[in-house]
Amino acid sequence: MRVVSGIQPTGKPHLGNYLGAIRNYVALQDDAHAVGGECLIFIADLHALSMPHDPAELRSSTLELVATLVACGLDPDKAILFNQAQVPQHPELQWLLNGTARMGWLNRMTQWKDKAGKNREGQSVALFTYPVLQAADVLLYQATHVPVGEDQKQHLELARDIAQKFNNDFGTEDAPIFTLPDPIIPAEAARIMSLRDGSAKMSKSDPSDMSRINLSDDADTMAQKVKKAKTDPEPLPSEEAGLAERPEAKNLVGIYAALAGQSQAEVLAQYGGQGFGAFKPALADLLVAKLGPIRDRFVELKDDLETLDAILARGAAKARERGTPTLEAVYRALGLVRH
Ligand code: TYM
Repeated sequence: MRVVSGIQPTGKPHLGNYLGAIRNYVALQDDAHAVGGECLIFIADLHALSMPHDPAELRSSTLELVATLVACGLDPDKAILFNQAQVPQHPELQWLLNGTARMGWLNRMTQWKDKAGKNREGQSVALFTYPVLQAADVLLYQATHVPVGEDQKQHLELARDIAQKFNNDFGTEDAPIFTLPDPIIPAEAARIMSLRDGSAKMSKSDPSDMSRINLSDDADTMAQKVKKAKTDPEPLPSEEAGLAERPEAKNLVGIYAALAGQSQAEVLAQYGGQGFGAFKPALADLLVAKLGPIRDRFVELKDDLETLDAILARGAAKARERGTPTLEAVYRALGLVRH
């Protein structure tokens, strides 16, 4: 069992990242540890170059993200925690996979289409080839399980397509070069929506801070954001079917369910018939109960830059070691002369 996943250091990590992905990193770190497998979680700082960025901010948000991940329960003694920039095998493998990935495959990526919009010519090459680096990230370690939110499913399918084509073109049937990775997407909370717009994903890049709950928000801020969250005037329905045309209500019920470890049906069995005046304070209390301790640990850890740097350096040394055999096999399979 090899668990591999990444998270970008741009913007502040939020509730969507936590429920969609980080919580599963922690669960799978323990599962992998129990069966003698390994879990590698990295900060995708090289992916951050695909959009305009401020170098000083990138450095500080990378270290803050390490503090967040540890505060959420990632244990640097159990999981390998690092940043891509210290493991050059990631971009190295990306280049080698560029020969296999197809322009048409990348052109179909919804993230590329959404982010580029009508201005494709003006985008960085990195934004276009971003999914090939993401494929390299997981294939380098022969990942079996990749915990992600729903928005990353298409990128993972692309990684599988690249792996399959590479295996067909350059491997043998008994000795495939790459393992095909499986995405692990949570049943509840795979796609948490903005608090201001039930049709948009909760996102680090949304200009409105009111659209998301940041993991670093204090209790009052969380309560304010829930209070101001967009809703409709109807009371909550007693059954899930009643949420179908009510994206904002569905999102809040989904968040409650995921945090409480309940199904949406169970939440509605309790709150059906009640208005948001009753439900929102209950949701705010639950958020504070679940995220408050994470925030407290984050505040304790975030200024100890030496410790955070040391965690990354130690993780990167292990990651470089784990990535070497696959990279060497890829060079050999491609007929590239190395020694
Ligand atoms: P990123 O940094 O946008 O998000 C990190 C993780 O959080 C999940 N996520 C969400 N889940 C539910 N609801 C939401 N609103 C929400 N927003 C984000 C994402 O699905 C992701 O799992 N390209 C990736 C980073 C990456 C990566 C990888 C992931 C680079 N290489 C290799 C997996 C494997 C990204 O930008 O995630």
